[in-house]
Amino acid sequence: MSDRMTTDRHVRSPAPGDLAASRALVERVIENLGRVMRAPREALELTVLGLIAEGHLIIEDFPGVGKTTLAKALARSVGCSFSRIQFTPDLLPSDVTGVNMFSQQTGEFEFRPGPVFTNLLLIDEINRASPKTQSALLECMQELQVTADGVSYGLAPPFMVIATLNPIEYEGTYPLPEAELDRFALRVSIGYPSFSDEASMLVEQAESSPLDELEPVASTEEVLTAIDTARHMYVEPSIAEYVTRILCATREDKRLFLGASPRAGITLLRVAKARALLEGRGYVTPGDVKTVAGPVLGHRLLLSPEARAGALDASGLVAETLDRLPVPS
Ligand SMILES: Nc1ncnc2c1ncn2[C@@H]1O[C@H](COP(=O)(O)OP(=O)(O)OP(=O)(O)O)[C@@H](O)[C@H]1O
Ligand SMILES: [Mg+2]
Repeated sequence: MSDRMTTDRHVRSPAPGDLAASRALVERVIENLGRVMRAPREALELTVLGLIAEGHLIIEDFPGVGKTTLAKALARSVGCSFSRIQFTPDLLPSDVTGVNMFSQQTGEFEFRPGPVFTNLLLIDEINRASPKTQSALLECMQELQVTADGVSYGLAPPFMVIATLNPIEYEGTYPLPEAELDRFALRVSIGYPSFSDEASMLVEQAESSPLDELEPVASTEEVLTAIDTARHMYVEPSIAEYVTRILCATREDKRLFLGASPRAGITLLRVAKARALLEGRGYVTPGDVKTVAGPVLGHRLLLSPEARAGALDASGLVAETLDRLPVPS
């Protein structure tokens, strides 16, 4: 590493005070989630990194493993506004985004904002709503706005969709189209708790849920500051090239029907910046990219029919690609 680059890192990285404060905030939120969730730290970390990277999250796992609880715990921890929508086949797009209603008093149409006008939006069982309703979310997720009858209404940041998905139920569901999946920054699974964790959980939750007593540990303003700090992490050109090499490798891989999009690359770098913040570093390392690449890319890649019969799934394929590619020094 040349001296110039080392100097660049210090000149262009966030101020040490901002970095330390934002790191402390992220640590506090992760720790707070751990008060309710008995889950691997990695899952809790990724959830918070998603928020700091301004990303949306899919929690895909079996029923009853704490998906909704994790989303609620995040909402409580950061003291942001929170809405929840249970997706069902009869849900209409306007049930999500809002609707223009005629007002008797004013004699004009007025926009009634839907539940999407919030900071954290929990969508339970996202694949149960019709494609039309699912697609109503696309504009909100990418552009942070809702358009009704030609007028656009902005959503206030931070805006994060946390969608839950059950991997074993297919009947009566509409699989998420690739364009929709690509708008989710990360996919997280929680898994079953360890034996001892499960035993303690049963005792803890015998009378009441610890979620009810969970207190916020960060304000919306503090979250916005941490988001801004993460944005200003220094990214050396070699790191951007490394991310590009990963994207190209997925596109050239014959076992993949669909590789990673440029949007996936932008997101990968954003989440890697958030990870650098959690590490208390003002710049991104290849290690940051490697750590988050699986959860960022896995759900966006489509395996070819032949590869689907093989041993590797999309996340395994990402891991294999990372092992194969040269890492910048
Ligand atoms: N790992 C866990 N840590 C803490 N509590 C858990 C965990 N797994 C399950 N629970 C508890 O189990 C109950 C069910 O959890 P929750 O509703 O979050 O599951 P879910 O994954 O959203 O289920 P579904 O797929 O049916 O919606 C809650 O009371 C929750 O507190
Ligand atoms: Mg649930």
